[in-house]
Amino acid sequence: MGKESISASIALNEGTSIAKVVLMPGDPLRAKRIAEKYLENPVCFNNVRNMLGYTGTYNGREVSVMGHGMGIPSIGIYSTELYEQFDVDAIIRIGSTGSLQPNVKLGDVVVAMGSSSNSSYGDIYGLPGTFAPVASYELLKACMDAAEKLDVHPHVGQVYSSDQFYYPKANADLPQRLTDLGMLAVEMESAGLYWTAQGCHKKALAMFTVSDSLLTHEAMTAEERQNSFDTMMRLGLETAWT
Ligand code: ADE
Repeated sequence: MGKESISASIALNEGTSIAKVVLMPGDPLRAKRIAEKYLENPVCFNNVRNMLGYTGTYNGREVSVMGHGMGIPSIGIYSTELYEQFDVDAIIRIGSTGSLQPNVKLGDVVVAMGSSSNSSYGDIYGLPGTFAPVASYELLKACMDAAEKLDVHPHVGQVYSSDQFYYPKANADLPQRLTDLGMLAVEMESAGLYWTAQGCHKKALAMFTVSDSLLTHEAMTAEERQNSFDTMMRLGLETAWT
């Protein structure tokens, strides 16, 4: 074995490439549906572990879309490989999130300016204190310009990237504490993406559609999810295009 890269998770299919900007939903089948619905001439570039990735064009500009799986370790692996081994400049996570605030309603779009977390993933960088996971200002600005153009009104602020989807009794009050701190919503990957981007000197932004509420315990139906994801997708694609 030489010193060549040990990229285990992405292997380019013959004759394919990855764009400089990659949109990433958690679910690889969602990546496939996005590519088929929104991109012109999508070509599948990765099948390893069925973590499907496609490259095509949007309004004539090359863009890729690929799944990142669930949780910070998973997005950490895929984003590191994309940034370091495939020379990707920017990753935009497009996901779902659970609301933590009364004014953040089902179907609304949330954009993570910053992302707090209970994950220890940031410890790998060895900083004393806190390594604050924040969005790329350039991508955030592009997103807000696109939002104005599309007449979309996202909630912008801090979200919480949790290592837990379910809260056992010992931690049952965590959602309420996040609400009290003004966190907009909870999801499971954006802090990992922001840490990785900063560590690789690259750009990242995460945006979400609110699919459920930790306050009211309501959740969207599959059909409602599909329709409201469209707004976020357009915002993500326009941000990628800027
Ligand atoms: N993604 C969507 N809803 C979520 C929730 N309630 N917790 C964590 N991640 C989520």
